[in-house]
Amino acid sequence: MCGIVGYIGTVSAKGLLVEGLKRLEYRGYDSAGIAVMGDKGIDIERAVGRVANLEGKLEGRKGFGGSLGIAHTRWATHGAVTETNCHPHTDNAGKICLVHNGIIENYAAIRTWLGKRGHTFNSETDTEALACLVAELYDGDLEAAGNAALKEVTGAYAIAVISTEEPDVLVCARKGGPLMVGVGSGEYVVASDPSAIVAHTNRAFALDDYNVVRLTRDSIRTSTIHNKDVTPKVMMLEAQLEEIELGGFDHYMQKEIFEQPRALRTTLRGRIDRDEGRIVLGGLLNNAKELVRARKLIMTGQGTALHAGMIGEYLFEDFAKIPTEVEYASEFRYRNPIVEEGTVVCAISQSGETADTLAALDEAKDKGALALGIVNSVGSTISRSTDAGVYLRVGPEIGVASTKAFTGQVAVLTMMSLFLGRRRLMSVEKCKQMIGELEGVPDKIELVLQQADQIKAVTEKHIEKENWLFMGRGVNYPTALEGALKLKEISYIHAEGMPAAEMKHGPIALITDGLPAVFIANQGAQYTKVLANIAEVRARGGHVIAVATEGDAEIKDHADDILWVPEIAEPLSPLLTVVPLQLMAYYAALLRGHDVDKPRNLAKSVTVE
Ligand code: F6R
Repeated sequence: MCGIVGYIGTVSAKGLLVEGLKRLEYRGYDSAGIAVMGDKGIDIERAVGRVANLEGKLEGRKGFGGSLGIAHTRWATHGAVTETNCHPHTDNAGKICLVHNGIIENYAAIRTWLGKRGHTFNSETDTEALACLVAELYDGDLEAAGNAALKEVTGAYAIAVISTEEPDVLVCARKGGPLMVGVGSGEYVVASDPSAIVAHTNRAFALDDYNVVRLTRDSIRTSTIHNKDVTPKVMMLEAQLEEIELGGFDHYMQKEIFEQPRALRTTLRGRIDRDEGRIVLGGLLNNAKELVRARKLIMTGQGTALHAGMIGEYLFEDFAKIPTEVEYASEFRYRNPIVEEGTVVCAISQSGETADTLAALDEAKDKGALALGIVNSVGSTISRSTDAGVYLRVGPEIGVASTKAFTGQVAVLTMMSLFLGRRRLMSVEKCKQMIGELEGVPDKIELVLQQADQIKAVTEKHIEKENWLFMGRGVNYPTALEGALKLKEISYIHAEGMPAAEMKHGPIALITDGLPAVFIANQGAQYTKVLANIAEVRARGGHVIAVATEGDAEIKDHADDILWVPEIAEPLSPLLTVVPLQLMAYYAALLRGHDVDKPRNLAKSVTVE
């Protein structure tokens, strides 16, 4: 989604802003722009396409020497992908200059009102209306004009605004869209994502909804848009620079797939008491009693996070014997769901900023549910909106296709279900056994990753095929959904995931000669049933690629290609079986010549509904 970077300090803003925009590229965007305060007004440049295009245009330009500026990557919502629609936007006089993430829902009414007051518009955007509104309400104080304008708008926003009338002031505000302020010495870096801040400072704070910050080189004031002072909670950003750099890999997705063993070791570290057969989750301790007495769990999220939640459903019901449901956050929020006493809602989100997931959580809280979060991004909006929760600790995920966050989410859900299971009905022995299995996962993923070349070769065989099916049963049904999602989002191959038994109820009609059908066929309670489903596909000419357990001799008679995973207790098996599917998707995109880390139409963090 859109990205914001702002800077006020002592060095030239241009390079720093462009570098910040590059760090935000992974979020997905279609155009970029920059504005720098100069002696004779504001220097502005915009370009469609990559930040590199903007950089190219800046090379030949005079000006841009100032040390206060704002910049933006746009993901079109209002109006086509054109230079005119690109941010920053100004009012007609060029006095106010603004960048904005989110959607101003009542922008049409604002435009009409402003039109009657003589404002004209160059672009089709809601943002230009907001810039003009700030100008209309400006009376010598940028912060006051910003507040007055924001009181008039409905929708979600994060903004950064500057004015020629106050050339040493940067004002930023948020409602809904994330925005952080990095605090350096004599300088501030503002960004919608910490990755644009960590190169400059590790000290930062997140703005809360309806908060405004007014920055000069030697002062900072945080307040609400109703002018009440707010004391910001400065925290240390955990991400190190090397975590957000490629470090020898060709793509972030590749790096993140391969760093899963290390990431999961960090997820598990300090949270397992092997001797006592217990899981130690500090983030849940204050609410442990309430959780143990929970009558129902609802897992919610979107996309990959929802698939992790579906696996959580199996784990919570198996280990903790708590009735569990899973629901898309986008559906839950508008369904008027029944939330009875003893309901716990668990929001799962890598970014912690997904608009639908956040809204579902708010809906659940309003109805009296205890709100849990399983989040990767420390300090993100969802992590700050929950009663309790567990961080993934897998490090920043930059690749648009989620990989290490998925295995991190499943690992955390496993720990949470064991945490509750032991406090309810689970025996020490069973818990110890599962803990041992969980601890073995990182080493076993390493063994799967060693087969990368073979997985690439199998993918290559089918690279011309436009339709794929992914099937699994039980806890690996969500893995099949995840495999299909990974393939379609970065290789643009049509793929469908489903429970293997569902195939006979319709999708079997799709099976033609040579259609690639990926089966999760690891050893487990439903293994023979999966073999029967495989036979149905082969009888119709489908080409079966099986993800199977090492040492399984029988599968060789049933599958055309086999991708091996080490033996593991069935409830934990998705942590291994998903890895070959992630690699298949990665290689398919690569072999088809797509930009793996910047898939078309997709954004890393979906902050609008
Ligand atoms: C798929 C993917 C998305 C996200 C979804 C939720 O690879 O990344 O489906 O899982 O947009 O995002 P978060 O987890 O940030 O809430």
